[in-house]
Amino acid sequence: MSSAAAPAHPAPAWLAERLRAAGGAVPFRTYMQWALHDPEHGAYGSGRLQVGPRGDFVTSPSLGPDFAALLAPQIAQWLQQQSADQALALLEAGPGEGDLALQLARELVAGWPELAARTTLVLIEPNAGMAERQRERLRECPLPCRWKSFAELAAQPVCGVLLAHEVLDALAVERIVWDGTLWRRQQVALHEVPNAELSLRLEPGQPLAPQELAQLEPLGLLQPGSQRQPGWCTELHPEQALWLEAAAAALGSGVLLVIDYAHEAWRYYAPQRSNGTLMAYRNQQASTELLQEPGCWDLTAHLCLETLEQAAAEAGWRSLGQRRQGEALLALGLAQRLHGLQQQSGVGLDALLGRREALLRLVDPHTLGDFRWAAFARSAASGDPGPSDALFLQDPPLT
Ligand SMILES: C[S@@+](CC[C@H](N)C(=O)[O-])C[C@H]1O[C@@H](n2cnc3c(N)ncnc32)[C@H](O)[C@@H]1O
Repeated sequence: MSSAAAPAHPAPAWLAERLRAAGGAVPFRTYMQWALHDPEHGAYGSGRLQVGPRGDFVTSPSLGPDFAALLAPQIAQWLQQQSADQALALLEAGPGEGDLALQLARELVAGWPELAARTTLVLIEPNAGMAERQRERLRECPLPCRWKSFAELAAQPVCGVLLAHEVLDALAVERIVWDGTLWRRQQVALHEVPNAELSLRLEPGQPLAPQELAQLEPLGLLQPGSQRQPGWCTELHPEQALWLEAAAAALGSGVLLVIDYAHEAWRYYAPQRSNGTLMAYRNQQASTELLQEPGCWDLTAHLCLETLEQAAAEAGWRSLGQRRQGEALLALGLAQRLHGLQQQSGVGLDALLGRREALLRLVDPHTLGDFRWAAFARSAASGDPGPSDALFLQDPPLT
């Protein structure tokens, strides 16, 4: 099988110890959880990974303040739709370096001071290493800032807007592999050979249980004639449902905006995509080697749009719609912003060209422009239609 034939990678001592304690192998999902979120060894948990052009990988807000400036009117619209006498929260899950949170806070204070006066910034960051850097970055934030877990918020749900920018792609995924007869859970195994370095292998593990197999039906993986080649491998997203439930319990009413890499199920699970979407990133390099230097590389999987929509609906979120980032940002005025750059005086040519390049990268259909923006609403009062007419779903303004 192709997955079994993947190259072996050395096992660091901490991981070898855990794999031995677990009987020699763990499901890929457990491995990904450890490699990213272990407080001591995980790439995010330890705070080792850095987001930005000088870090391990770039994200839209790390390219400069234009992304937040374009998003701000959308956030303001949703905050304004909440009832006028309530305290408001702008929540960000997985804030990374804190760039987006800081830039949005500044935009709100500058453009919507009355709204900002009622708003607290709430950061949801389970990884202590990342939270430490966010505290530093947000020292000069013009809004009051709090770091809270979803569990803490659930005790006293807030009202406002929750952003999840490139965070659901960091939740551990389950990998499944077709062995020619059965669907199996892929596992990461410790390979011990006398007089050789301990290494890690991807192996087909236990067959999926009947209730797990049923989840493959809506993804088109069980239909007659949909047989894959032995070794065909993909991902499932069980942690997303848990995350959406926890988010729903934390936000009494308001809007969730998910921005991430995503495919429709027909693209995600197409027969020709024989190795899923998981990628590793470090030092601005992309790799398909998922077992190399565990805890040093970011591991990230696309979202499946149908899985996201279904899990959101089951968790009590109402879909407001979704759009590609390129279209969303054009609807929010990116073309006008690009045009406005040319009219600016007193700004150096280098700075202007840098901003122009960043704006174009945000809508590049081959990279960030293909990201999906998916919005969901929740309201405390049942029957309340909740926020709608999202700006980012409208047609671009005429230039
Ligand atoms: C790819 S970075 C994105 C950073 C930032 N949102 C950006 O776009 O620049 C992922 C972030 O999500 C955090 N994270 C991972 N799992 C999380 C979870 N279950 N809940 C909230 N944040 C999480 C990571 O520690 C990190 O801060």
